[in-house]
Amino acid sequence: MCGIVGYTGNENVTPILLNGLKKLEYRGYDSAGIAVINEGKLELVKSSGMISALCEKVENRPAMKGTTGIGHTRWATHGAPTDQNAHPHMSNDGRFAIVHNGIIENYVDLREELIQCGFTFLSETDTEVIVHLLEMYYKGNFRAAVMKVASRLEGSYGLGCICSDHPDTVIAVKEASPLIIGVGAGETFFASDVTALVSYTKNVIYLDDGELCEMTPSGVSIYDFAGRRIEKPVSRVVWDIEAAEKGGYDHFMLKEIMEQPRALKTAIDHRIKDGRVVLDDISLTPDYLKTVNKIVILACGSAYYAGCAGKYTIEALTRVPVFAELASEFRYSNPIIDEKTLVIVISQSGETADTIAALKEAKSIGARTLAIVNVVASTIAKLADDVIYTRAGPEIAVATTKGYTTQVAVLYLFAVYMADILGKIDSAERMRLLSEIEKIPSMVQRAIDLNRHIPYLASKYYKNTSLFFIGRNTDYAACLEGSLKLKEISYIHSEAYAAGELKHGTITLIEPGRLVIALACCERLFDKMLSNIKEVKARGAKVLGVALEGNLRIFAETDDGISVPRFDPLFCSLAEVIPLQIFAYYVAKENGCDIDKPKNLAKSVTVE
Ligand code: AGP
Repeated sequence: MCGIVGYTGNENVTPILLNGLKKLEYRGYDSAGIAVINEGKLELVKSSGMISALCEKVENRPAMKGTTGIGHTRWATHGAPTDQNAHPHMSNDGRFAIVHNGIIENYVDLREELIQCGFTFLSETDTEVIVHLLEMYYKGNFRAAVMKVASRLEGSYGLGCICSDHPDTVIAVKEASPLIIGVGAGETFFASDVTALVSYTKNVIYLDDGELCEMTPSGVSIYDFAGRRIEKPVSRVVWDIEAAEKGGYDHFMLKEIMEQPRALKTAIDHRIKDGRVVLDDISLTPDYLKTVNKIVILACGSAYYAGCAGKYTIEALTRVPVFAELASEFRYSNPIIDEKTLVIVISQSGETADTIAALKEAKSIGARTLAIVNVVASTIAKLADDVIYTRAGPEIAVATTKGYTTQVAVLYLFAVYMADILGKIDSAERMRLLSEIEKIPSMVQRAIDLNRHIPYLASKYYKNTSLFFIGRNTDYAACLEGSLKLKEISYIHSEAYAAGELKHGTITLIEPGRLVIALACCERLFDKMLSNIKEVKARGAKVLGVALEGNLRIFAETDDGISVPRFDPLFCSLAEVIPLQIFAYYVAKENGCDIDKPKNLAKSVTVE
């Protein structure tokens, strides 16, 4: 969840590290720090709070000159977000500094051992054991010492280490935590995320688990944990730095909401050719797909809700049962799956610990696995048997928007692809469905254009402290995501409820003035929804109705309305989520919340 960055080259390293950390801040933002080798000596600055607090500290001290250094932005796991617990951590002899992303599971035993050996600990972190082990094992060969340390660690780590005896060297190590090397001219970088590198170089090497990279200004050498040299390809990042900048918007979230028509076009267009879905990237054969008797979708948070939305469409088109399950629960549920189960894991980051664990569990029981992932070469992308990339581009706001909608779009494509293979749709129906899917980007743009009054609605309702989203079927799936968006960034309590369930208990919470957001785009269930709307209205609720464009009946029954463009009900819930994202955004803005970096959260959740 933390962000790490490192550099060695000929430039002043301090601004490079601080810039890199600003790009990584969305990964964790409760404290930060940098360490630089300045004239053969390690200098360290750390601060609780956001990167801006660190920058201020750096500005108000003598210049940190040097051309080699490391940096870290933290999401606290072990120990509070204090200056002392912030990374980098330094060895007792002042020779080593390290930054770490991940969790060292055996740190209690290691800490005990190191205390017995006379080392002094300054923090409560699991990480600090690493730097003392480094001091203990160092006999003049930096790489050999890091290698020895790695052999003692259990858990996950993306690690960056510097040593004052080797002022032109940075060593990075990867085990179950993302690490990318940037290869520039006369300079090398590492980071936990490509966004920190892309303004300096687009040439990157994706490290795999169990690999160590020794970096100097003149290049990199990569080794496995047995010390054997490995050659790895240099990949080219396909997007520009502008994609990871705000581009004139107040927040990344708003920019990413507005980018959705383009992101969806990229996710969809090249996958429809000559009236068929083309999934070149996967190796699932028609013969295998014909044996599948169950699909299990595993994911967390919004990705799980994308799975809930996709379930309706896949089941409707293929008639294969689909179970969307929370990844964090799945592995402890003694799951009933076998080789006839297709497991689809969904993750924007590709690094979510719960989803990785569930994927491993599914593989170990023998299921075939397909990942739907945004971040290229991420852990989930590499672990699954097949991967379909959502191609949403970098998503920086902690609250996902284009990440979610591109996941849903890929599930729609997969539904048509599988229905075609199973012979459940004829060619006319296939063509019709695909022409609807091709319209999704313009429908999403229309969903934005139709709802320019949402800032006004937000200013009217932002003071509500608790509210409900209700809907049925695909509307219910959209409720789940709309409610999470609102909770996540505005800190307002809300619940997503299947509209028919309200009367089985929860209706006691409906009282005069309570805001209920009623989603009624699923027209075949419209009359049922209307009854549910009347039930809450009768108990004094204020109702904000969400319905298809031109549905005057709903707007006659509700206090306010949001319109969603009309298109195929199988694909409608994707567009329905757009105004809910915008509503959450403006409510959070009215409430003065830190929209891109909501409290207590981080973009990718790499702890279970
Ligand atoms: C969504 O807005 C959240 N930030 C969160 O629920 C997220 O979707 C979840 O943590 C899963 O992340 P992933 O897609 O990177 O696996």
